[in-house]
Amino acid sequence: MPAAPGFAARLAEVVPTLAESYGTPFHIYDEAGIRATHRAMVAAFGDWPVTQYFAVKALPNPAILRALAQEGSGLDCSSPVELRLAGEVGVSGEAIVFTSNNTTRAELAMALDRGARITFDDAAHLALATQLPATVAFRVAPHGAAATSALMGAAGQSKFGVPRDRLAEAYRLALARGATRFSIHGMTCANELSVAVALAAARDLVETARAVEAETGIAFDSVNFGGGLGIPYRPGETAFDFAAYAAGLVALLREAFPGRRPRILMECGRYVSGPHGVLVARVVNRLDKGRLIVGLDASMSALMRPGFYSAAYHHVTLPFAEAGRRRVTADVVGSLCENVDRFAVDRQIADPRVGDLVWIHDTGAHGAAMGFTYNGRLRPAELLLKNDGRVVEIRRAERFEDYVATLADGTRTLARAPSAGVAAIRLDGIAV
Ligand SMILES: Cc1ncc(COP(=O)(O)O)c(C=O)c1O
Repeated sequence: MPAAPGFAARLAEVVPTLAESYGTPFHIYDEAGIRATHRAMVAAFGDWPVTQYFAVKALPNPAILRALAQEGSGLDCSSPVELRLAGEVGVSGEAIVFTSNNTTRAELAMALDRGARITFDDAAHLALATQLPATVAFRVAPHGAAATSALMGAAGQSKFGVPRDRLAEAYRLALARGATRFSIHGMTCANELSVAVALAAARDLVETARAVEAETGIAFDSVNFGGGLGIPYRPGETAFDFAAYAAGLVALLREAFPGRRPRILMECGRYVSGPHGVLVARVVNRLDKGRLIVGLDASMSALMRPGFYSAAYHHVTLPFAEAGRRRVTADVVGSLCENVDRFAVDRQIADPRVGDLVWIHDTGAHGAAMGFTYNGRLRPAELLLKNDGRVVEIRRAERFEDYVATLADGTRTLARAPSAGVAAIRLDGIAV
C-alpha cells in the first residue's frame, strides 16, 4: 500500500537531498504515524482496561521503543536481548510482557528479575521458574479459527503454546505452586485484515478462557489476544477496521464475564509500525534478460519478507519519476546470490532509469528487524522522520568492521581431541 499521504508528502520533501547527502539505501520511519496509531488503538477501547505491548521483534530500535513508551505502550519481548532493549529505554515491571518459546531457565530468570509479565509457552516451563511471576499466563496452542494460519501452525502441528486439552492441567500446576493471579494468551491471527476472522479467533480464546475457569476454579484478570493484526500491503486492500475490532473484543468479554472487566492485552507490532516505514533505494541496473530486471542498491538482506514468505507483497514506487513516464512490467531485485532476492516480481512500475530513487513501502515492521548479512551485503541504516520534521539517524549502516567484529584469531584453545589411536565409537547408533 502506498505510504500514507501525510508521510509520503513529508518524505518527498526530504528524500532527494537526503539520498544525495547521506546515501542509499536506508529505512525511514515516521514517528508521528507510529505514535498516532498507538494512541488511536488504545482510544478505541473507551474506558475498558487495555494495555498494548508493542512487539519489539517488529522494530527493535530504541528510538521507536522510547517514543512508544512515552505514549504509554508496553513492550512485548521474546528474548533476553529484547528484554535488555526494554531496560535501555527505561521499561520494566508489568510494562513488559515476556512471550517467548523454547525458553530456558536463565531467560525466565531474567524476565522474572525485571518483574515482567510472563507468558509460559509450556507447562514444563513453570518448573524452570525459580519463583512465580505476579500473574501466571499460558499461551494456548493455535486452535479453532487461529489454527487456519500456516504462519502459526495448524492445530496439532504448531510448536507454540499449550495444547487446548492440556491447558487446565497447566493452570492446576500453577495453582498448586501458589499462583493467585491468572491471564491467558493466544496468538489469534497473523497479518489478518478481516475483523470477522480476527474476532472469530478472539471468541475461541475467550471461550477457552471461560472453559478453563470452569474446569479449574481460577478467574482470569486479563486476556492477551497477541499480535497479528494485518496491514494492507497491496493497493486495493482495505485497512483493518480497528475500531470495530476493539468494540467486538469488549462485547465478547462483557458477554463472557458479566460483572467483570478483565484487562485486554495485545502484542501488536505490524499494525503499529508497519505502514510507517519505507525502504529507500536507488536503481543501479536496468537489465533486459528476456524479462526486465531492475537492480537496486538494497538486497533481500535489508527486507527479507518478499523472499521468505513466498513473495509477500511490498508496494514499490518511483516517486520522483516524472508524470507520463510509461509503465513497464519488471522484477525488482537485489544483489544476493539467491534467486528469491526479489522485492517484486512481474510488477507494473514507472519505467526505471539507473539512478532513480525507489521506495519500497510498509517496511516499518519485520523489515530491518529481519535483516541479515549473507553475501556480505550489510544491513542499511535506519532513519527517523521526527514529529518536528527533522530526519535523524537511529542506526547507522553496517560497515566492514561490523562484519568482522566477531571474528576470533584462532589462538584460543577450547578443547583438544586426541590426534590418533581413538577406539571406534558410536555416534547416534552409527559406528565411526
Ligand atoms: C507471540 C507474538 N506476539 C506478537 C507478535 C507480533 O506480531 P505482529 O507484528 O504481526 O502484530 C508475534 C509475531 O511473530 C508473536 O509471535
